[in-house]
Amino acid sequence: MSREQMRMNIAKAEAQIAATKPDMEHAVMRQKYHFMAEQGWINDPNGLIFFRGKYHFFYQYNPYDAYWGAMHWGHAISDDMLHWEYLPIALAPSEPYDDHKEGGCFSGSSIEHEGKLYLVYTGTTNYGDGFIQSQCVACSEDGVHFDKFEGNPVIPAPPEGYDRANFRDPKVWKHDGKFYLVCGAKKDNLAHALLYRSADLLHWEFVNVLAESRGELGYMWECPDFYPLGDKYVLMFSPMGLHERTTVYLVGDMNYETGKFTYATTGEIDWGFDYYAPQSFLAPDGRRILVAWANAWDWMPWWKDWGPSFKEGWCGAFNLPREAKLCEDNSLRFIPVKELETLRGDKAEADNVVVEDSYEIAGKNGVFFELKLIVDRKKTTAESFDLILRSDGDKASVVTVDLKRQQMSFDRSNADGWSRGKTRSPLLLQNPDELEVHVYVDQSSIEVYTDDYKTSHSCNVFASNDQNQNYVKAHNGILHMKKVIIWELEKTMK
Ligand code: FRU
Repeated sequence: MSREQMRMNIAKAEAQIAATKPDMEHAVMRQKYHFMAEQGWINDPNGLIFFRGKYHFFYQYNPYDAYWGAMHWGHAISDDMLHWEYLPIALAPSEPYDDHKEGGCFSGSSIEHEGKLYLVYTGTTNYGDGFIQSQCVACSEDGVHFDKFEGNPVIPAPPEGYDRANFRDPKVWKHDGKFYLVCGAKKDNLAHALLYRSADLLHWEFVNVLAESRGELGYMWECPDFYPLGDKYVLMFSPMGLHERTTVYLVGDMNYETGKFTYATTGEIDWGFDYYAPQSFLAPDGRRILVAWANAWDWMPWWKDWGPSFKEGWCGAFNLPREAKLCEDNSLRFIPVKELETLRGDKAEADNVVVEDSYEIAGKNGVFFELKLIVDRKKTTAESFDLILRSDGDKASVVTVDLKRQQMSFDRSNADGWSRGKTRSPLLLQNPDELEVHVYVDQSSIEVYTDDYKTSHSCNVFASNDQNQNYVKAHNGILHMKKVIIWELEKTMK
């Protein structure tokens, strides 16, 4: 029975997609190379995996509206994480444990087992007495069509004393022949990451509290992810209740005997307003890759709305995939994947650019492109410089690198007549010779990287196509750039 119900719900959603997809032809705010859903609403990346020769991205998806609601899992495949083919919806709400208009099939992850693809997700429902979240499993033989396990939910409730409305986002992995999962939970208004173990993905036992907040890390961790990197383990999550912090990482050591993770290093994955719920997976060549949702929730301090694109019948995109790397001091770097270089087209390059006031970065197309600047710090006397992006002479996004205060900020308060807020981060590296800034500008977002990819700011900006001027401005002295390179980029999305 349940199998037919989900098939019917998927068919209905697919009909909705087919009926509204043509509207996307006129949607001028859609990204050119950042991943989006075919139409409708998208949030977290789910179930990221390289399976039978393809990258599979699943995603929190509402095909019925450009706003969040009744969560489905959308599904797309790719050879390079840049060019995509959409597949039928993988999961639709259909069961008592996951069928609710403000619930559904919430975030989770995937794993291959005995040649099959398993999805582990959170079912969210409500019988009139508060939300109930439980962990569920679905399985596919062909990697396209999924069936929910008849014995769902496989973890019906958190341990005694935990909040049943905040028990979600399982991330599953295999270690030493056993399956493990970590999920977010809340107890006494504090965030906990709970660790479970299983031999078959269907029967789970609670092991321990992997890590927890004492208040300094918030009251709930959404989308926890846990993975080995070099000789360390990384726990990352999106904390609730931490103001501007959207993604935190902790680096430390795992003890599988006790089920405890101990850490000494913490950091930010991204300082921007639009980087949330990153999930990691392993590429076939061993790279640990992260993908996040490029947006924010209504409980965040700078939140205004999810952006004006709902008027075009869609909302949301993913940030660029990044490779996680462990540094010698156990901090992390997150580098845009090398596949992005294949999108590069025409290039304009200038050497030894000396800026006394302002310098125009002239690309053919000032709306979506890639840009790299290498500043010669020895020859630079300017105290700070601005990167003025997507400007029409009036509106603009302003990225400021303050060399004196060692700070970077992204001000989008006059970016598009819609967005607001200014992000700020310390510059972590004190390289006396040079400083590199690497920028990806897309139709409706900007990602800025510096500090050898230890620092990034990702923000959505809904600038019009007239906003196509980009320039650099020096303050209180001369800015000397060893190199300025701008690349045109191939458009991969519709
Ligand atoms: C994070 C999140 C998850 C939840 C999902 C619902 O963005 O709130 O915790 O599973 O989105 O769509």
